[in-house]
Amino acid sequence: MSLKKISNSQPSKFEFSKENLLKVEKEIKKYPPDRKASAVIALLYLAQNQNNNWIPLEAIKYISRLLSMPYIKVYEVATFYSMFNLSPVGKYFIQICTTSPCMIRGANKITDVCKKLISKKQNELSENKLCSWTEVECLGACVNSPMMQINQDYFEDLDQIKASEIIQSLLNDNFPKPGSAKNRKSNAPEKGKTTLL
Ligand code: FES
Repeated sequence: MSLKKISNSQPSKFEFSKENLLKVEKEIKKYPPDRKASAVIALLYLAQNQNNNWIPLEAIKYISRLLSMPYIKVYEVATFYSMFNLSPVGKYFIQICTTSPCMIRGANKITDVCKKLISKKQNELSENKLCSWTEVECLGACVNSPMMQINQDYFEDLDQIKASEIIQSLLNDNFPKPGSAKNRKSNAPEKGKTTLL
């Protein structure tokens, strides 16, 4: 599991766009007025989407004011969950599951590919600034391990060759087709159905 990287280069200001302010209002209304802090995850997620997939510290301060929460409480949430990025992640953000089932089936070979093609250390941008990668805990697709998530999509049943092809394609600014590298449908057996024929 990686330590959360906080960007050294921070914007001096953050505000939600008009469109996102309407969404913020909707999120806050889901909770009683004295429980509006419950909207914190939704607001952090909106901030991340608005800011090229990472959350600047100014956004954390801004959200703490919106929700009348101490800054440190919002900071704690933002640093706890791996879904929140606190430094720029590039257009293609690759999260590799390195929990036991994926690790046993070769997740370390996928991280080796990332080290070779993207950056030696996780959470650093590739030379062309298009990609970055990080290790994460179980992403819930253990049965199709090893796997990685790229932006919102899952790539499963990987090996070193397939992972290299996918990452090379991203570095060329092409998003490949997500899903199983073995063309499995969901988590069906590789050779097709064996029961309920
Ligand atoms: S262990 Fe990798 S997806 Fe669950």
